[in-house]
Amino acid sequence: NHSLFTLRLFSLLWCAPSGVWSFNLYAEHPTVYRGPSGSYFGYSVDFYQASTDSNKFSVLVGAPKANTSQPGIVEAGSVYYCPWPGLPDSCRQIPFDNANNRMIKVNGSREPLEFKSHQWFGASVRTHKGKVVACAPLYHWRTVKLSGEMDPVGTCYVAVQNFSAYAEYSPCRTNDPDPEGQGFCQAGFSVDFTKEGRLVVGGPGSFYWQGQVMTAGVAEILNGYSLKAVLRRVPGEKHTTAAEDTHDDSYLGNAQTQNRPLRIIRSGPSNFTGEQMASYFGYSVAVTDLNGDGMDDVLVGAPLYMEREMESKPKEVGRVYLYLQKAPLTFYKPVALTGTYTFGRFGTAIAPLGDVNNDGYNGKKRYIGY
Ligand SMILES: *[C@@H]1O[C@H](CO)[C@@H](O)[C@H](O)[C@H]1NC(C)=O
Ligand SMILES: *[C@@H]1O[C@H](CO)[C@@H](O)[C@H](O)[C@H]1NC(C)=O
Ligand SMILES: *[C@@H]1O[C@H](CO)[C@@H](O)[C@H](O)[C@H]1NC(C)=O
Ligand SMILES: *[C@@H]1O[C@H](CO)[C@@H](O)[C@H](O)[C@H]1NC(C)=O
Repeated sequence: NHSLFTLRLFSLLWCAPSGVWSFNLYAEHPTVYRGPSGSYFGYSVDFYQASTDSNKFSVLVGAPKANTSQPGIVEAGSVYYCPWPGLPDSCRQIPFDNANNRMIKVNGSREPLEFKSHQWFGASVRTHKGKVVACAPLYHWRTVKLSGEMDPVGTCYVAVQNFSAYAEYSPCRTNDPDPEGQGFCQAGFSVDFTKEGRLVVGGPGSFYWQGQVMTAGVAEILNGYSLKAVLRRVPGEKHTTAAEDTHDDSYLGNAQTQNRPLRIIRSGPSNFTGEQMASYFGYSVAVTDLNGDGMDDVLVGAPLYMEREMESKPKEVGRVYLYLQKAPLTFYKPVALTGTYTFGRFGTAIAPLGDVNNDGYNGKKRYIGY
């Protein structure tokens, strides 16, 4: 049941008796937000700070099947702004896009250029200081061909200045359609910002599902933005290209993390292996320095993880694995945090909140939301 989403805030307390790291988890008065029934409210989540001078946070919650006010569009999906602390019904839709499908003239008749119904806007949402990005990985467009085909290229929207300026960024809406090109890209399946605030967009479907990662500056996306420029290339954009055939099916774009698309997960001396097939290990990833030792730690979500208890049927509860970095690219054995609700998809979204109460690293207290 996705209509009720519980933002669970854990405080992690670290202590190192006899050099062994251990920690306790305390569930501290969880805040509960509610969205429209059937909207998948809570599918994605991030914390948002309107300005860095204030210590006030709010919560952005994706609901990829929510209906919006866009005329003629069904279940476009939406991202909600939730004041924190806040009451369960205090969330409001953010107007990233109020428009209908754009139209073009083909062979004398007007046809939709794009298809925003069921596009899963809000499947991903990320913030960086005052910048926000949210994406619709199942956004389709008509392609440049005369015989109009529908390609799931995906699209993203950025917002700045506390939601007063918006621009669309659809890096796979190009002259390179079809599965062998960028037609099945599904840009925005995963998305993040680098530490410097540059946008990183994962498109797992490009080049026969090899996947692709694009990066662009938010200022460049906003400058000179126009609704009419459908095939716009953003100045300074960088993207990975098609690799050798052997990379097909690697889903490169699915599990990128800040600054380090997949590299930290797939190679190097560390080795993060999912415990179960089809648990969707790597569906979500977050990188943050949890214990304040100066080295980034890694959280990996496996939302379809099944818990097997003695003599009972396995229960799909989801799991989050926490890997502490002990030396550069060397990690301790993971600590597993297991969900409590069957089909709750615990671990679908992970968002590091950092040092909210601004106590520096004293007490080594960090917060994360799942
Ligand atoms: C969205 O609206 C359509 C048509 O009015 C309706 O069939 C559908 O159930 C609605 N979906 C949600 C998630 O509210
Ligand atoms: C363009 O329109 C004409 C007349 O309606 C039709 O015969 C022709 O097949 C169309 N061409 C394409 C490529 O759709
Ligand atoms: C930022 O935008 C939100 C949502 O529209 C609004 O509730 C909030 O008051 C704004 N904050 C500031 C500092 O303007
Ligand atoms: C990764 O870990 C798994 C399970 O512990 C092990 O079977 C596998 O050999 C390891 N792979 C590498 C490259 O170390």
